[in-house]
Amino acid sequence: MATQLTINGRSTTVDAPPDTPLLWVLRDVLNLHGTKYGCGIGQCGACTVHLAGQAVRSCLTPISAAANQKITTIEGLSPNGQHPLQVAWQQIDVPQCGYCQAGQIMSAAALLAKHPKPTDDQIDSAMNGNLCRCGTYLRVRQAIHQAAGQGKV
Ligand code: FES
Ligand code: FES
Repeated sequence: MATQLTINGRSTTVDAPPDTPLLWVLRDVLNLHGTKYGCGIGQCGACTVHLAGQAVRSCLTPISAAANQKITTIEGLSPNGQHPLQVAWQQIDVPQCGYCQAGQIMSAAALLAKHPKPTDDQIDSAMNGNLCRCGTYLRVRQAIHQAAGQGKV
């Protein structure tokens, strides 16, 4: 069955069952490998993308639920990798192994879109579902504050 998806500003038609997880389509059909497979059951956040501006777990999002809505992946967050979060991530050297980091940044971007100057509590609440086995949580929080222009570095 054909499903119309709009990903990173580009419209595409995918021929797959409507219950196919969006993550499968991103990685296996469209070769957008920035979005990671971690757990596949909505528990780790590695697969986070934006759907209509909201951070969602693409492993749990069937393509039927994403049809005709704006989808943004890490590849589309900024045209040149210079989103304030991406700049702060580099300046603070947030990643360790890096596997969780695209999901972390996408959750953080959704947070900043809603709360441009988030408190620590708002950050912890928004980022709670993004796990990092390398324990980069403090640098993630620091980078979000820096991207928000709060200078907590
Ligand atoms: S892979 Fe989607 S939440 Fe873990
Ligand atoms: S940087 Fe390794 S899992 Fe987060």
